[in-house]
This record gives sequence, C-alpha cells and structure tokens, in this order.
Amino acid sequence: MTSPVTTIAEIGKHEGQPVTIRGWLYNSRESGKLLFPIFRDGSGIIQGVVPKNAVPVEVFDALKGLTQESSVIVEGKVRADKRAPGGYELDVSNVEVLQRVSENEPFPISLKEHGVDFLMEHRHLWIRTPRQAAILRVRAEIIKAARDFFDERGFTLTDPPILTPAACEGTTTLFPVDYFDEQAFLTQSGQLYIEATAMALGKVYSFGPTFRAEKSKTRRHLTEFWMVEPEVAFATLDDLMELAENFISFIVKRCLEKRPADLKTVGRDSAQLEKITGPFPRVSYEDAVAMLQEAHAKGVLESKFEWGGDFGSPDETYLSGQFEKPVIVHRYPAKVKAFYMEPDPQRPDLALCMDVLAPEGYGEIIGGSQRMASYDLLLARIREHGLPEESFKWYLDLRKYGGVPHGGFGMGIERVVAWICGLEHVRETIPFARTLHRLYP
Ligand code: 4AD
Ligand code: MG
Repeated sequence: MTSPVTTIAEIGKHEGQPVTIRGWLYNSRESGKLLFPIFRDGSGIIQGVVPKNAVPVEVFDALKGLTQESSVIVEGKVRADKRAPGGYELDVSNVEVLQRVSENEPFPISLKEHGVDFLMEHRHLWIRTPRQAAILRVRAEIIKAARDFFDERGFTLTDPPILTPAACEGTTTLFPVDYFDEQAFLTQSGQLYIEATAMALGKVYSFGPTFRAEKSKTRRHLTEFWMVEPEVAFATLDDLMELAENFISFIVKRCLEKRPADLKTVGRDSAQLEKITGPFPRVSYEDAVAMLQEAHAKGVLESKFEWGGDFGSPDETYLSGQFEKPVIVHRYPAKVKAFYMEPDPQRPDLALCMDVLAPEGYGEIIGGSQRMASYDLLLARIREHGLPEESFKWYLDLRKYGGVPHGGFGMGIERVVAWICGLEHVRETIPFARTLHRLYP
C-alpha cells in the first residue's frame, strides 16, 4: 500500500485523498453486494464502504465474513459524510489481513452484553471496546491536567520511594515485602517523603502508584491505585482548601475542553460537570455530623451517626449527594485520622484536615491536612499509634532542622476518573484493576 499512513483521529486532514490505516475490524455489516466493515485503530472508529463491483475480488473476499478483531491494514479514499459518527467514511480500495481471528475461537467479547466478572476476566481484551478506550483516554487527560496544574504553578515533581520501611496511613492496610533481611512495605502514600522534599524545594508534588491491602469490597477501593500528592511549605489548612478547589476545577475544565467526544461515548452528562467551578462549599465535621443525624431522624439514613466516628461509605454518599459541587469537609476528630495531622489550636481534639467529597454521591476524592509541627507531640503520636520509632527518625528530623508549618493532600486518580466519567465502580478506571479478589490478568 502506497498511500500515506494516518490515524482515524487525523483522517479529516486527508479528505478526498487515499490513505492507509492500520488497526482492527471492530464490526461489520453486509447487505448483498455491499460490505460495511467498521475499523478501529485506537484513535477512533470509521466505517468503510466496499461495493463488490468497485473493488478487486480478493479485497471483497478478504473482508466478507471477516471476523471481529482481525488485524488489518486498509487503504481507501476519505469521504466526508455528515451522518458518520466521526464525520468521515472510507471508500476501501485495498486490504491486507495481518491475522484473521478464527471462527472456531471468536473474539470473546461480542457486541452483546456480558457480565462484569466475565469482562474483568477478559480485561486485556475488554479495553479494546470504545467505551473502555474512552475511559482510558479521559484518565490520561486527567493525569496530564494534574501534572500541568502543578508544573505551571512552580511545583517541582519529586518521586517518593515505593519500597518503604514503615506505614503512613495505618498499619492495617500494609502490603509486606521481603527486603533481603529486612521487612519492607509497599508505599501507602508518598506524603512523608514529599514533606522532606518540600523542606528542600518549597512546593512539590508526587504522582505514582500507592498500595493498600484493603479487605473491603466496595466500589471505591482498589489495592493498587495512583495518587497525586502536592505538599507545600508554609501552607495552612485554608491554603490547602483553596489549592484543592482550584485543582479540581482545572481538571474538570480540561476534560470538558479536550475530551467531549469521550465523555459522550461513556454517556456522561456534561451539564453536571460544567457546574464544577469554585468556590466549593466548606462544611465542618461538626456540621456534617448534624446533617447526617438529621437525615437519620428523617429516615433517609438507616444508622444514626455518632460524633467522633469516621464517615462510612453511606454517610459520604449522603453528604456528597447534598451538593452540586464538591464539598470540603474539614476538622475531623484527631482520633479517626492519621498520626501526622496538626491539631486545631482552638480545639486540640480536632485535626486541621480536610476531605473533598465529589458530588452525585461519589464521596471522598481528596484527603489532606496540615502536618504536625511539634517534635515532641509528633513523637508522642508515633508512640501512641504503635509505630516503629527507628523508622521515623528521619521524619522527626524535619521538625528538628528548621521546621515550618506545612501541609498537602492526596487525590486518588481512579476515584476522580469514576466521578468525571460517571462510572458505578473504580474497576473500570484503570487498565488492570487490582482488588481483594483480582490479580488476573
Ligand atoms: O485519604 P488518604 O488515605 O490520604 C493519604 O494517603 C494522605 N497521606 C495524602 C496526603 O495528604 N498527601 O488517600 C488520599 C486519596 C483518597 O481521598 C482517595 O481519593 C484515594 O487517595 N484512595 C483510594 N483510591 C482507591 N482505592 C483506595 N483503596 C484508596 N484509598 C485512598
Ligand atoms: Mg482519606
């Protein structure tokens, strides 16, 4: 094939010209002497038109009855067509079938409905379908937007280690790893390390995989997920709330600008996303508890929420359903939060922390706080939490050598993808989800 190679996404640049595309047969319709093969190449989908009397007989025969997901190189002339989903069709003139999928063993994911377990078991193939590919493109856009946001604002990317000697977010969800003669764990969060890099560079962020041995089977929990974490020297809780608000608004706007077609493919109502602009409502933990108790009194929430606990999934779902924008809940009881959080000077039983809950019932997408400044108090907390002191010596050093108020937050990419795409479950937001019962494929 001699015509220039292009992608389906860029095919409009070649209107009226012959081109070559390389991809797979997604689907095909046949009506007598006319074939309508639909090709996909990862960048998009295009319908071909193959009239028997207008193409060489080998071309017609190769495409007639061709099986779904057979790999092909196709040559044809690009023709604008208003009715076509991408705006173009391809008048096919030549085809080379690279690998024909056998009729005896057809592509397992047909165009009919399949159960989720079956699809997850065939995730390596499921991701080829348009909806799943669209979700992965939105994910990539969110990650790009997150990096751009911090890069454009003077933050330096610093990568924390993945193998760590100690817990950051509680000892119950650690994945142990044999590290020669020592015990190591997969990181739960880069935070402790980026507190150190923030003292070196001022404004930093990290982006990488994090791990939690979550025994819970919820639609929000993965055992391996990707987190973006900014950490800022001299930041107060108010600064962090404003940063989170600007950050989320920026990401949503970028997806609306750059990924409208993908959002449409996944069936997302973008009117909901257009409402996501600052300021976001801020609600204290105290007021959030009052809202939950009132909902219980009205019979909307089954169990009565008692002051002092952490919100469960139904509580978060309820709270986040009360607002059209993300809501920032701040100042939780220190007891239910991590060891490193700075106490509120007005109410030392509360922590200077926040969770951002996405609207429409999506729940927590961000968790963050001001970090404890006092060496003595931090050491006391490490002991109270039964954490190994030797492993935290370096972390305590940060309070010994020019300690400053500072803070940051972590945003789970998968939860944000689920919210922005309007998905029921986080398992579809990452190419290969890892959950309590899934390590394959
Ligand atoms: O609230 P978390 O546990 O906070 C931290 O890890 C802090 N050290 C972050 C920081 O201050 N730098 O987790 C932060 C976010 C959550 O809001 C959620 O979006 C996501 O990480 N997350 C998970 N996502 C998927 N599966 C899980 N099991 C998750 N656990 C947390
Ligand atoms: Mg949290």
